[in-house]
Amino acid sequence: MSMTSAEIETLRASLRRCIRRKIEVTDIFYDTLFEIAPETRPLFGSDIVGQTEKTMLALGAIVSQIHDIDAFGPLVSDLARRHIDYGVKAEHYEHVGAALLKTLNAVFGEEFSPEEDAAWRAAYDLMAAVMIASAYPRQPVSA
Ligand code: HEM
Repeated sequence: MSMTSAEIETLRASLRRCIRRKIEVTDIFYDTLFEIAPETRPLFGSDIVGQTEKTMLALGAIVSQIHDIDAFGPLVSDLARRHIDYGVKAEHYEHVGAALLKTLNAVFGEEFSPEEDAAWRAAYDLMAAVMIASAYPRQPVSA
């Protein structure tokens, strides 16, 4: 599975809008994630607002690597392995994806188009599947 160039353009434009509203996106993202999966709270530091740049970096990582996930394979596996050190479990990926989509819909409302929703879902699921497969090889991928 791969992304079309139209989807990638959609993601780039969407990422620029996220960066313009990064504080709000970050706030709502963590509130939503900790509501959906409170067990992930201890993995993050106490300064959630200070987390803004990291959150944007994570979204940027998806957008920049998704157009050629095979070429970026080694970078994506390194990222996935660092996540094991952060205490992340394979099952957390689904919760983070759900929190991300809920957040973008909440922040952008009507402006968030069905195409954007579909492009983020496809990109997140693809990135998460590659990360899970490289970092948790013994675990079945449920997505
Ligand atoms: C497609 C999925 C994901 C992407 C692209 C992603 C990307 C990133 C990036 C770029 C960083 C910055 C540090 C680094 O490069 O090592 C990071 C940090 C982190 N991520 Fe993710 N991530 C993903 C999924 C998750 C999931 C499922 C969790 C589980 C709750 C998670 C928890 C964390 C934590 C705890 C940190 C460290 C935060 C800190 O230093 O305070 N991530 N992530």
